[in-house]
Amino acid sequence: MIQTEHPQSFRNILTDIFDDESIDAFQKFMATTKDLMSCYRCAIMEIETKFRVLDERFSLAHDRNPIDDIQSRLKSPESIRDKLLRKNLPFTPESIEKNIFDVAGVRIVCSFVDDIYMLADCLLKQDDIILIKRKDYIQNPKENGYRSLHLIVEVPIFLQDQKKLVKVEVQFRTIAMEFWANLEHQLRYKKNLSSDIVEKTAERLSSCAQLSAHLDMQMQEIKDMIEKE
Ligand code: GTP
Ligand code: MG
Repeated sequence: MIQTEHPQSFRNILTDIFDDESIDAFQKFMATTKDLMSCYRCAIMEIETKFRVLDERFSLAHDRNPIDDIQSRLKSPESIRDKLLRKNLPFTPESIEKNIFDVAGVRIVCSFVDDIYMLADCLLKQDDIILIKRKDYIQNPKENGYRSLHLIVEVPIFLQDQKKLVKVEVQFRTIAMEFWANLEHQLRYKKNLSSDIVEKTAERLSSCAQLSAHLDMQMQEIKDMIEKE
């Protein structure tokens, strides 16, 4: 049998630097945070499934898929920490749950603008979903032209011995909105650009957003005409 040398345990390494109480507190923090992040992953799975089911049922009835793509992401611990620090809030599992609503994010990319509202309504009608916040950047685009519908919802997840409500940010966009937002994000979002270049490009980005809104409107009208036939 091959004998492996036992590496020095993590606790032993820490003992050289910190007192026992601090190590216990740190290990408890790590375990609770890991547990919480797992809950957010489960909530993402629940929401994804709900949309897959809606897409499946809609395609059965209408012979087309309202959902073009479903993307999910879990906010990284570094981003969570930075957001809490920016808001002057403590970096604890309790504080994450109470203050950060976008740890779990699901993005639904739709074919048409109507599909966005239809899918959002279908989700909110489900009796296990609680709406926490709704921001309609389609009706009220951001100054830079950004459009999307954002919902913060609470969804129950069923663990071995308990039910837990978990917050998820759901963003709905059309393919055109997604195209604009992805490029704008690459170019500008949260980057430290000089105010000169920001000013010079702002108007053009906003007019591109208007073009994409026009495209969405045209496609919606064409679809409505075809469906009326
Ligand atoms: P965050 O602190 O960034 O989460 O913003 P918020 O809490 O004010 O929420 P909001 O609903 O305004 O935006 C949340 C998310 O929407 C962001 O994390 C982005 O994914 C997206 N978003 C919002 N504004 C823009 C924008 O101007 N451009 C792009 N590309 N994405 C945006
Ligand atoms: Mg965010």
